[in-house]
Amino acid sequence: AAVSIKAVLAGTYPVGSEVTVQGWVRTRRDSKAGLSFVNLSDGSCFDPIQIVAPTSLANYDSDVLRLSAGCGVIARGSVVESQGKGQSFEIQASSIEVTGFVDDPETYPIQPKPHSMEFLREVAHLRPRTNIFGAITRVRHCLAQAVHRFFHENGYYWINTPIITTSDAEGAGQMFRVSTLDLANLPRTDKGAVDHSKDFFGKDAFLTVSGQLNVEAYCLALSKVYTFGPTFRAENSQTSRHLAEFWMIEPEIAFADLAADADLAEALLKYVFRAVLNERADDMAFFAERVEKTAISRLENFVNEPFARIDYSEAVKILQNSGKKFEFPVEWGMDLQTEHERFLVEQHVGRPAVVMNYPEQIKAFYMRLNDDGKTVAAMDILAPGIGEIVGGSQREERLDLLDARMAKMNIDPVHYQWYRDLRRYGTVPHAGFGLGFERLVVYTCGLANIRDAIPYPRVPGHAEF
Ligand code: 4AD
Ligand code: MG
Repeated sequence: AAVSIKAVLAGTYPVGSEVTVQGWVRTRRDSKAGLSFVNLSDGSCFDPIQIVAPTSLANYDSDVLRLSAGCGVIARGSVVESQGKGQSFEIQASSIEVTGFVDDPETYPIQPKPHSMEFLREVAHLRPRTNIFGAITRVRHCLAQAVHRFFHENGYYWINTPIITTSDAEGAGQMFRVSTLDLANLPRTDKGAVDHSKDFFGKDAFLTVSGQLNVEAYCLALSKVYTFGPTFRAENSQTSRHLAEFWMIEPEIAFADLAADADLAEALLKYVFRAVLNERADDMAFFAERVEKTAISRLENFVNEPFARIDYSEAVKILQNSGKKFEFPVEWGMDLQTEHERFLVEQHVGRPAVVMNYPEQIKAFYMRLNDDGKTVAAMDILAPGIGEIVGGSQREERLDLLDARMAKMNIDPVHYQWYRDLRRYGTVPHAGFGLGFERLVVYTCGLANIRDAIPYPRVPGHAEF
């Protein structure tokens, strides 16, 4: 059976062992001494392994000399100590089988040289073959595993919340419709509106913007829960921080207030960054060298420093007194823009900050009204270099106040009867937050654009591949 390149490079097989490895060619170099050096990668680790192919191989002229970047290869041979610098082991090949050549090496899009991220987005099906997307993919996996491990170790249950729903969890009207109606022949009601009672679900249905409302129901029985799944937002924003389809981690804790919520978010972030620093040192070294100089040091700082905690009202004062000219002048009552968030954490606090207690009029209907009657128990966690990474709140557990807020925001309670039940039957204080998984990946790898943090980005105008 074939073994992983990672295992061979790590010295799992003593010098002289016979091994088979399989993967894709990165480069081929022919020496005057009558040998070829083929660098082979299988994704198991950052580095490729060097295969030394002697001219004595039966298919040396017919196959080995035709190898180019991207070819699929199964190589067998013995493990030898590498002469090359930085490399531990290589394989002296006794056979090289080519499973697939590259049709036209000249036009193969992934050449062994750096490509722009813009270009690589146009070949999203081939970009996993590059160093950088290999590294992003492994770090993304490491983060996801660490998230599940953190919650499991702390007694949380993973709840799979639905993707198709009739509730707008954020009340922001940014949902994608899911319908099987024939657009050319839409059924109409007497009043001329589209008749969704004839639709697949018998009503108007959408892709979820958040699993929160559904996970609250499980929280109010199992105490500590989380969802981790895809969410969808039809925000027409062409930014480097927004996707139309992204993954969100949403824990929910019973008998908890906003302070407990902020503590949980801080513990989770620190845990997953520690995991990446420990488990993906090879990929992080690449990011630090080629993408973002501070990629490693800023994660270390993140893990070591306590997050700052600031009230929204205090943040507004800091920004107003900063002397800085913002594109959007700061006033109490407005939502903080990215420029404000970044100034706050980068110039003022100098470390991640939890901003708490936002004005009620800019926040979602389910957030708990504070005693001042003007603010809600909401928090955003802002990180230097990116801005908002977490959004959360203590939930309004008092039915009368929830109803009042929904009425004030013109939200039709008819879609939320089941959610209201949670306040009618044994209500308890509870809180939770949402961590955008791609924002986490962007931050960890030091990427400039969120479109490179997910295998197949969906943004306005793009859903190919
Ligand atoms: O602040 P948001 O909208 O909060 C919620 O959805 C709550 N239901 C969460 C909860 O309390 N359970 O989104 C949470 C996070 C943001 O902080 C951001 O990291 C990410 O989700 N996010 C996006 N990431 C990529 N593309 C988008 N369009 C995003 N919108 C939000
Ligand atoms: Mg938010």
